[in-house]
Amino acid sequence: MTKREEIFSKLEKVPSFPSSAGRVLDLIQKPDVDFQEVVKLIEYDPLLTTNILRLANSAYYRGLAKIETVRDAVLRLGLDNIFNMVVAIGFAPIAQKTVDPYDLTAGSFFEHSVAVAIGSVHLAKMLRLKVPPYLFTAALLHDIGKVVLGTYAGVDGEEIRRVCQKEGVQFEVAERKVLGTDHAEVGAALLRLWNMPENIVSVVEFHHGGVPLENGLAPHMVHLANSFCLMSGVGGEREGVDNLPSYEILSHYRMGDMVSAKLVESIEGELESALSLFRGV
Ligand SMILES: [Fe+2]
Ligand SMILES: [Fe+2]
Repeated sequence: MTKREEIFSKLEKVPSFPSSAGRVLDLIQKPDVDFQEVVKLIEYDPLLTTNILRLANSAYYRGLAKIETVRDAVLRLGLDNIFNMVVAIGFAPIAQKTVDPYDLTAGSFFEHSVAVAIGSVHLAKMLRLKVPPYLFTAALLHDIGKVVLGTYAGVDGEEIRRVCQKEGVQFEVAERKVLGTDHAEVGAALLRLWNMPENIVSVVEFHHGGVPLENGLAPHMVHLANSFCLMSGVGGEREGVDNLPSYEILSHYRMGDMVSAKLVESIEGELESALSLFRGV
């Protein structure tokens, strides 16, 4: 079995989101979604209920009346936002537990994921682009393949880092040399297995590039935010190599240095409060 085949054979073993969260996500994606049933499913899960109420009453919705029931939360936030919250609630414990073998110290992986999620949405707004409702969630999950590689496939990051340094290539290029695949491809395969919507999966798959300029708004925002986070060190994680964003994408959105500097600043301003939302989730 090649290294690549071995990695893909491990995907089945990665525990999915808690089953009630998975059922809510399946339900929300149905074309004839039953609102009552979504409310009922969330209500049956005390953890999901507590967290949805917490997030619905968080600083993001400041100024609005306090929400006390799941029904009101779903009504106020809408199904798109509920979908995003359920994913974040499912992802937080997986991401926060992740430790070293893949060069992800506890906490820094989650911090980086949240920083890129905030950054992608801010960037789209700064560039006056229409923010797709799934952008935050897709950005949050962009590196989920690293969890699979480091935790479930038992890949030691050491050799990959060595190739990065020696050959001066980007992290994902070194992954492909050593493993025959990279964390973007592995992450996308995992999310397909979990029945995530294809627009989210393709952001994960192409967050290092590879989507035509005309129809890649979401993957491009994530690509740029990811590069700026890694270059500036905001969000804690650095891949230790040159993480310049694609010149093609940068110039397509006519981004100057000012925008990237402002973006990093705005991520820094929001990161702590966003992270505190997930503590204890
Ligand atoms: Fe990545
Ligand atoms: Fe990343």
